[in-house]
Amino acid sequence: MATRGVWLLTRLPLCSQTRSPVQCPALRRLSCAGTVAAGLRREEQPSGSVETGCQDKTPTKTFYEEQDERREQAQRTVLVHCPSKISEKEFLKHLSQHGPVHSHFFYESFGLYAVVEFCQKDSVDSLLNVTQIPAMGMEAVIPFRSRFLNLKLKSPSRPVSEMSPIQPSNQLPPSNRKLSELLYSAESVDDQLSTLLKELQLTEENTRLRYLICSLIEDIATAYFPGCTIRPFGSSVNTFGKLGCDLDMFIDLHETRKLRTHKRIGNFLMEFQVKNVPSERIATQKILTVIGESLDHFGPGCVGIQKILNARCPLVRFSHQASGFQCDLTTNNRVALKSSELLYIYGSMDSRVRALVFSIRCWARAHSLTSNIPGSWITNFSLTMMVIFFLQRRSPPILPTLDTLKALADTEDKCIIEGNNCTFTRDLNKIKPSENTETLELLLKEFFEYFGNFAFNKNSINIRQGREQNKPDSSPLHIENPFETSLNISKNVNQSQLQRFVELARESAWVLHQEDAYLPSSSSKPPWGLAALLLPSVMQSTKKQKKRCGSERIKSLLESMKSGSPESSANTSRN
Ligand code: GTP
Ligand code: MG
Repeated sequence: MATRGVWLLTRLPLCSQTRSPVQCPALRRLSCAGTVAAGLRREEQPSGSVETGCQDKTPTKTFYEEQDERREQAQRTVLVHCPSKISEKEFLKHLSQHGPVHSHFFYESFGLYAVVEFCQKDSVDSLLNVTQIPAMGMEAVIPFRSRFLNLKLKSPSRPVSEMSPIQPSNQLPPSNRKLSELLYSAESVDDQLSTLLKELQLTEENTRLRYLICSLIEDIATAYFPGCTIRPFGSSVNTFGKLGCDLDMFIDLHETRKLRTHKRIGNFLMEFQVKNVPSERIATQKILTVIGESLDHFGPGCVGIQKILNARCPLVRFSHQASGFQCDLTTNNRVALKSSELLYIYGSMDSRVRALVFSIRCWARAHSLTSNIPGSWITNFSLTMMVIFFLQRRSPPILPTLDTLKALADTEDKCIIEGNNCTFTRDLNKIKPSENTETLELLLKEFFEYFGNFAFNKNSINIRQGREQNKPDSSPLHIENPFETSLNISKNVNQSQLQRFVELARESAWVLHQEDAYLPSSSSKPPWGLAALLLPSVMQSTKKQKKRCGSERIKSLLESMKSGSPESSANTSRN
């Protein structure tokens, strides 16, 4: 329900990605309220003392303020590989010799790891000053210093039985089985969508870990490009990230360039001596080559480095073993960061947006409409654009168009990147809450009906204007890039993938319509609602069932789904 109350609750900063049904910003207190000293006084304090709760529901930070704050927090943080049996209390006491610990948590990923945030950056330096390069017996070591450390016990400090057990925070999504159980036992389809969001969204700890990994990579990159920043973007920061999603990041050399243009003193302009290359693309390839090599040779925990330099957007792909993240590193991707900010804002406008996007993304994944492997599949980014577009098309609209957000912008919001106008308001208070009160269940059903009948053969999707437009080319699926408007973000999608999407959308709409007939509480009931949609086997049997039902019924159902001409349907043949 898009009541004003819900509206206020949902305008929250990024750090609200805790596992709580009501989104709540987990604001880090800059005072050292959570120091280890205070923690030790609370004798039986459980492990994982990251502050994840807070009463303040009012958003206080913009996307960039949030990013800067988390970056600064990451710089005061170390990652420690710990022995599996360890006294948390003694560990924290040991670290607090270097200064107060602000917060910490443990997690498991082929071993036990601790993420420890000090109050002061000096404490990290102090800790690193007493940290040794390990002696490796027969093998040689590269004496590389970083904030990724290894803790060894000289002797077991205390009998294991006397230690309070460590409670590692979970970094993985629940198993399919667990998720199914939760969805079966939900009270309504709306409840199912909220449960899915709550279970799959990035936790506060996982978000911290993502910023920490960027910060560790930044330490390596700054050796070559002093002052550069490694910025996360995409689903790690746009509030649509699901536990286990990849970590997209880029090397921001913008700050370095800005310095170059601002250091004019009097009549003199001092420039760095640099090497020239024939194109921006070659410069990007060279930068990524050297960073990729460094990560390969020296980056602790960075494995499987692939330099994919001939892609449209060159990148270095690698796994960060200790966090389990699949990482994609690009350069100067400021437009993508702006897209992340836009999605972040859309996700904050109405509580239904994220719930719907999560369920559509999960539905697409469950039916292999999306894939981790590049190819002709639809991407999560495109699916998110489709949901936003659909919500702009509701009556009354649930989300404003990008042009509306642009019209509300003031001079501070003005943003031109590489000639592209990326201006939109960042002030949510300027946006009138939607008067639309449709339930999630209805929206889910309508989403499938809308795109099951969309004229993909002639129309494109465009969130800038929020209306269907003639396709400028013959790509099966055309979704206009919001900032680089001449580009199609789903150019890769072929006709057969689009056809699968349309068929599954129609079948899903059919399943949800059928279910109107019975209640979720019935004990003999098969998987219902969202749970049914996420099971490929249920959808298969639906297909057969539908055939049995006969074409007349389907015809009338489809007609009731959308009263439009038959030509408005996609170029697909059904059953
Ligand atoms: P996940 O599937 O959860 O990783 O979602 P994601 O949003 O992070 O998508 P992905 O990792 O594929 O891409 C990361 C970001 O790059 C997206 O959020 C977009 O901002 C941007 N992006 C992805 N694909 C395109 C594209 O085709 N065109 C443009 N301009 N940007 C894209
Ligand atoms: Mg991603």
